[in-house]
Amino acid sequence: MPAPATAQPFLFACCREGSEASLKADVLRRHATLLTPAFMRPQLITWKARAPVDETFDLATPFARVSGLSLGPCKTEAEVVEKITSRSLTRISLHVFPRVAPEDGAIDWKALDAIRDRVSTALQNAGITLDEAAEHVLSLIVDDKPEAAWFSGLRKRRAGDPLPCGGLPRIVLPSHAPSRAWLKAEQALAWRGWDKVDLSHQTALDLGCSPGGASLALLDRGMKVIGVDTGDMDESVLRHDSGGFRHLRVPLARLDTSKLPSTFDLLLCDINLAPPEVLPHIASLCQTCRVPRLILTLKLNHPTFEQRVDEFVGYIRSFAPGPVFVTQLAANRREVCVMAGE
Ligand SMILES: C[S@@+](CC[C@H](N)C(=O)[O-])C[C@H]1O[C@@H](n2cnc3c(N)ncnc32)[C@H](O)[C@@H]1O
Repeated sequence: MPAPATAQPFLFACCREGSEASLKADVLRRHATLLTPAFMRPQLITWKARAPVDETFDLATPFARVSGLSLGPCKTEAEVVEKITSRSLTRISLHVFPRVAPEDGAIDWKALDAIRDRVSTALQNAGITLDEAAEHVLSLIVDDKPEAAWFSGLRKRRAGDPLPCGGLPRIVLPSHAPSRAWLKAEQALAWRGWDKVDLSHQTALDLGCSPGGASLALLDRGMKVIGVDTGDMDESVLRHDSGGFRHLRVPLARLDTSKLPSTFDLLLCDINLAPPEVLPHIASLCQTCRVPRLILTLKLNHPTFEQRVDEFVGYIRSFAPGPVFVTQLAANRREVCVMAGE
């Protein structure tokens, strides 16, 4: 049975640390007539809606890692159960995750999983089926102060919904990674479920590959990698056991595409150039080579670029394989991640 639209609903969104102002500004640009900012904590923002909305409402902002309808605070398992039974939901997916997520991915999941297990038991005792693939996702957002109530929210899954719980894959930057780009690459793969795809023996083109975090992640997954960057590569990449890395030490504009393979299974770009500079090169590469999957980091280090994300993504849609999704990963800084392809 569909849940009733709440009369005076609130919406919520979680974002990375430091992106709260970007998230608020982006939501204001998109929904100024509908939404007014309400309760706000680091990495969690809520808005009051001036008209009825339900859990299908899409904030459609790249700066929200997860969003949905706010169900408000819950102090006990019984309160969580009441929120779900009062909406006549009988099958849900339960995601328990922290409000504050560090950008290096180091989250203590043990305490969170214990809460998830207790709440799961209470929900199941009330006749609610827990199913990871259920179309309704209940988010329980756990505060960093143990005495604080959990914040609860509900969303109906939609295309491009993050696959990991809370949009926070259980991946920590390893000490041997040459750069944080290792984590960005792994989080991107997990976000779309490509971490479950067997990438071994496939070939990647890694643009802006130095010092080599992303290349190392792909090499460790068994890929062959052609990396383009004028900078030096870390020894762990150059001397990778697989011998699968080839360095083209040229700027992107001087890349001779006639010397590249005609197909790449994956194209990554993390070049620290403005999107208007770098995207035309990616478009031209996609016309020259067959590339079924893209992971592009769009650098938003100019004040106006945050407002132009839709324009950049629209341009990417004009040349990249579909579907195209954009989000800000937990490990992104002043940038967003665009993923294109199935
Ligand atoms: C954020 S770093 C990339 C980190 C890298 N992806 C990793 O995994 O370690 C940005 C890189 O873009 C490179 N870069 C900047 N302009 C470039 C250009 N025109 N052509 C190729 N690489 C460029 C820089 O040399 C720098 O190494």
